[in-house]
Amino acid sequence: MEVSVRNVRKEFDKFPALHDVSLDIRSGELIALLGPSGSGKTTLLRLIAGLDFPTAGAILFGDEDASRKSVQERNVGFVFQHYALFRHMSVADNIGFGLQVRPGASRPSKADIRRRASELLDLVQLSGLENRFPSQLSGGQRQRVALARALAIEPRVLLLDEPFGALDAQVRRELRRWLREIHDQTGHTTVFVTHDQEEALELADRVVVMSQGRIEQVGSADDVYDSPNSPFVYGFIGDSSTLPVRVENGQLWLQDRSIGIEAKGLPEGRATLYFRPHDIELRDGCGGCIAGTVAASRRVAGTRRVELDVGGARDRIEIELPVEHPAGTNGRIAFRPGKWKVFPDTRALVPEPAPFEDTSDDKDQEIERMLATTF
Ligand SMILES: Nc1ncnc2c1ncn2[C@@H]1O[C@H](COP(=O)(O)OP(=O)(O)O)[C@@H](O)[C@H]1O
Ligand SMILES: [Mg+2]
Repeated sequence: MEVSVRNVRKEFDKFPALHDVSLDIRSGELIALLGPSGSGKTTLLRLIAGLDFPTAGAILFGDEDASRKSVQERNVGFVFQHYALFRHMSVADNIGFGLQVRPGASRPSKADIRRRASELLDLVQLSGLENRFPSQLSGGQRQRVALARALAIEPRVLLLDEPFGALDAQVRRELRRWLREIHDQTGHTTVFVTHDQEEALELADRVVVMSQGRIEQVGSADDVYDSPNSPFVYGFIGDSSTLPVRVENGQLWLQDRSIGIEAKGLPEGRATLYFRPHDIELRDGCGGCIAGTVAASRRVAGTRRVELDVGGARDRIEIELPVEHPAGTNGRIAFRPGKWKVFPDTRALVPEPAPFEDTSDDKDQEIERMLATTF
């Protein structure tokens, strides 16, 4: 099912949580909404679900305007971080719940529901645990059951809000691969919310990078990492180093020296150079490159992080060198970035996160109540 978000705005008591957001979700894709806390990911997911309604704009499921339809009419499946399973129900009953509460004629027979639950347990690799209760499962197993429950109703769209957020790092990584496999088998259109860039980049076909209620960029993991289109995306995804520079005569300047980087087509004036700290070429001397004295050097796992003092008071820059590089003792280092990007200083470089109040627990309870009454 294709989902189109068209010029959606969402205000809470005049506070705009989403500004004019548009997004086309393709049928069968796994798309991740990635951004810091408070960037509007959950708000957008709830609008797609029908748990809340836009202040302006529309949400289409295929060609039909779903903006005012209920959760049930949209037929979406959810998994949330804390969306607890029903404690007093067995695993099989949890999975069958959405089918069991369907009105008369559309409700499958008990035997069919049982069969469907058992197929889904196979799919999520928990066969044999039908009769367990949630308290007898690990956190990771519970989230697998929650996914099976979301899939039982054969949703048109599957919505996952930080589903692995409460689990420890290793289980998260396992579940990430597992979810990708399940997605490849079942092909549901899936929207996955996370603030964890590694999770988004590894899991998703496309990543939607959000900041302060706006979409900054939509693209594959390679697109957003290799060709970030804004200072925010450059800074948010992967490591980045920045250097305040000046554009003059189509060249970049650091104080009174040209650093040998062309800046054709950019407006003259202040700008910021961005590059990846590991993506550099060392140079012997420096006619037209960046040079500085080593201010600090520390080993971090497999690399050496070196801070260079390149002149002005704010102009410290971090690069990554091989561990064996004698940076600690080497007074001066000259280099050129391999790939880089220059952004004119026309707006705040990395916006401050919006004031954030974590209301996710309340929301989950609300969702649980809703699902229990609307299924
Ligand atoms: N029900 C609500 N009432 C008031 N403000 C809200 C509500 N839900 C979210 N917000 C605000 O909207 C912004 C986006 O929140 P949210 O979508 O939960 O962000 P994310 O999921 O990216 O962390 C935040 O500033 C948050 O405080
Ligand atoms: Mg959220």
